[in-house]
Amino acid sequence: MVLPSLLMCDFGNLEREVRALEDAGVAALHLDVMDGCFVPNFTYGLPIVEAVRRLTTLPLDVHLMIVQPERYIESFVRAGADLITFHAEAVGDPQPLLNRISELGAAAGIALNPATPLEQVDACWDRCDLVLVMSVPAGFGGQSFDPVALERLRYLRKTLRHDALLEVDGGVNETTIGRCAAAGADLLVAGSAIFRQTDYGPAVRKLTDLAVSQ
Ligand code: DX5
Ligand code: ZN
Repeated sequence: MVLPSLLMCDFGNLEREVRALEDAGVAALHLDVMDGCFVPNFTYGLPIVEAVRRLTTLPLDVHLMIVQPERYIESFVRAGADLITFHAEAVGDPQPLLNRISELGAAAGIALNPATPLEQVDACWDRCDLVLVMSVPAGFGGQSFDPVALERLRYLRKTLRHDALLEVDGGVNETTIGRCAAAGADLLVAGSAIFRQTDYGPAVRKLTDLAVSQ
């Protein structure tokens, strides 16, 4: 499934953007929350997640790039997040937070930047509903895909629970998406590859075709 990252959408026309993505046939929306502290970029938080929740019944995949994510988990679930992913680099032991997200009724995911050793979360793989393999350092759209993500996807596909989802995020485009799908990614996040096009439908369909043909 190709998930659009709303980072580059037109926030002055949020409703129109969400409708256009629904019409394009996307299965969920990926929302990038950045706090200007965990990453050197600042995006948006709870009010936008709530606003998107009111606009659509599509599942909301919330990618938290914030320090101390434990402080805000409950609020993001209340705002309408169906899936919450926090960064391994932002917490000590991820386990309690994964448990907390599950208790609150959302799916729980861990994200890892390309430079973070996978071993850091070795003890938690069984507790993850999803693992997000970053193929760029978290923080900005439009960066180039780091192929280290492909090895990680292949390794995690073999290691994770069979029902766990594997997601890849960063530099996913027509050139890289096929390799990500072949390496085992279920959810393929795309920002610029969709939002730099005027018509989202053909862009989403082309990316989906390239992913499923693997
Ligand atoms: C980066 C974000 C991504 C980003 C993807 O930190 O997590 O979701 O928006 O954008 P592209 O596809 O342009 O790399
Ligand atoms: Zn993201």
